[in-house]
Amino acid sequence: MAAKPSVTFSPLDEAGEGTLVLLAGAEGALPGGLNEATASLARRAASVGKFKGKSLSTVEATTPEGETNDRVLVIGTKGDAAPTGEDWLKIGGVAAGKTSGSKAVTIRCETPDGPLSAQDAAQVALGAVLRAYKFDRYKSGKGEKAAEEKEKEEAPSSIVLAVSDPQAATAAYEIAAAVGEGVVLARDLVNEPANILTTTEYASRIEALAEHGLEVEILDEAAMRDLKMHALLGVAQGSPMPPRLCIMRWNGGTKGEAPVAFVGKGVIFDTGGISIKPAAGMEDMKGDMGGSAAVVGLMRALAGRKAKVNAIGVVGLVENAVDGNAQRPGDIVTAMSGTTIEVLNTDAEGRLVLADALWYTQDRFKPKFMVNLATLTGAIIVALGNHHAGLFSNDDELSQRLTAAGLATGEKVWRMPLGKEYDKMIEGKFADIRNIGGGRAAGSITAAQFLQRFVNDVPWAHLDVAGTAMGSPASEYNQSWASGFGVRLLDRLIADHYEAK
Ligand code: BES
Ligand code: MN
Ligand code: ZN
Repeated sequence: MAAKPSVTFSPLDEAGEGTLVLLAGAEGALPGGLNEATASLARRAASVGKFKGKSLSTVEATTPEGETNDRVLVIGTKGDAAPTGEDWLKIGGVAAGKTSGSKAVTIRCETPDGPLSAQDAAQVALGAVLRAYKFDRYKSGKGEKAAEEKEKEEAPSSIVLAVSDPQAATAAYEIAAAVGEGVVLARDLVNEPANILTTTEYASRIEALAEHGLEVEILDEAAMRDLKMHALLGVAQGSPMPPRLCIMRWNGGTKGEAPVAFVGKGVIFDTGGISIKPAAGMEDMKGDMGGSAAVVGLMRALAGRKAKVNAIGVVGLVENAVDGNAQRPGDIVTAMSGTTIEVLNTDAEGRLVLADALWYTQDRFKPKFMVNLATLTGAIIVALGNHHAGLFSNDDELSQRLTAAGLATGEKVWRMPLGKEYDKMIEGKFADIRNIGGGRAAGSITAAQFLQRFVNDVPWAHLDVAGTAMGSPASEYNQSWASGFGVRLLDRLIADHYEAK
């Protein structure tokens, strides 16, 4: 991976090194308090062309020899409303993106409306760090672009944020940076190919999180057989990779208080099984563990920032492959809950994995609620594209909280319906239920109905992240295939509603 920039905070009145980034308001107005040379240069840059200080628009100028700052970049902050947390994240992303090639960057966290709060400055810093993320560990450098060329694309190695209260901003950034570590971990896991991130390798990376204070437990195939998790095991049986169920616990809340629980689909590769997928684009199915990666990243974030909450993360790790022992269409399996399932399509495997993971989680931990994340259906991409995850829930309050957290973080969710009519579409012919609805109609909803059969009336929400965990267009704060979607969203949900103050 590309080196992470160092982030430090300094007082506003200190002249910073390297490229200077200034934040402009309406009509390109600059904050006061700049030294005269910088101010006149920035004013000149800002008067060029049509710079009106519009949010995320930029102008830049090179300074004459001998100045402290070799370059000045002005970023607009003027939107329709006051900037939100996500806007500051984007501004940080633009700052890092537009200064690639500079070694050091100083971002002056002040607009004509005054200095940024510690929280907002921390989001600017996080945006810059997330923008700098690159998954390049398999680029050997052989036969590559000239080193010089490459350097121009590198994010700055040092980012200084000039703020009104460096101590407060440093404290706020410690928390934001822990969440950032979780996002980066989730991105790494999703970007890794399946020959490297095997089920067992994935489980050992999760085990290593104990270093951050998480309690980790790993169930192997025999343990899952004892628990009668035949829905999950049926998916795994066509692959030489053994399945794993990983349980992470973060006990930061009141002792004995019911935990919040997060469950993830961790299909490290989805060939479709005997109902095999077409060849074109199948490589993307290395990301079919994106839901689980968000759960792992979230647990890392909670531990990193010592969240005052009891939280459980459960991920089911399997490969959906195809060999002589693979599950067939028509096979009937009995889930841990006792429900019997006709497997009519072996490519509808995520719901089979989650059936046992969800049942196990509610049965063992009696959580306040469960949120599961899964790259569950192609149909959710047809419905919502890459800009919202599908939200399905049996609980209005949890839905509203997730929706609000989505708007605050920019990891947006859109609620979709559940209902008896849809539940009927998964009635089985030879068993209790079948693993697909009839035909192509309501594909994401019937998948959610299937999951609901395994939540036992616990408040629950399912996030279908097939369109958002990977392959979304590059953004101000993510240039990588994997996005880490879900980590910031769920961290925010917890911070806003489930932490002791
Ligand atoms: N992992 C896929 C869903 C998916 C598709 C994720 C595209 C990311 C991008 C899932 O296991 C799957 O194959 N779903 C089927 C369900 C169908 C067989 C009912 C689908 O969406 O086609
Ligand atoms: Mn599938
Ligand atoms: Zn899948």
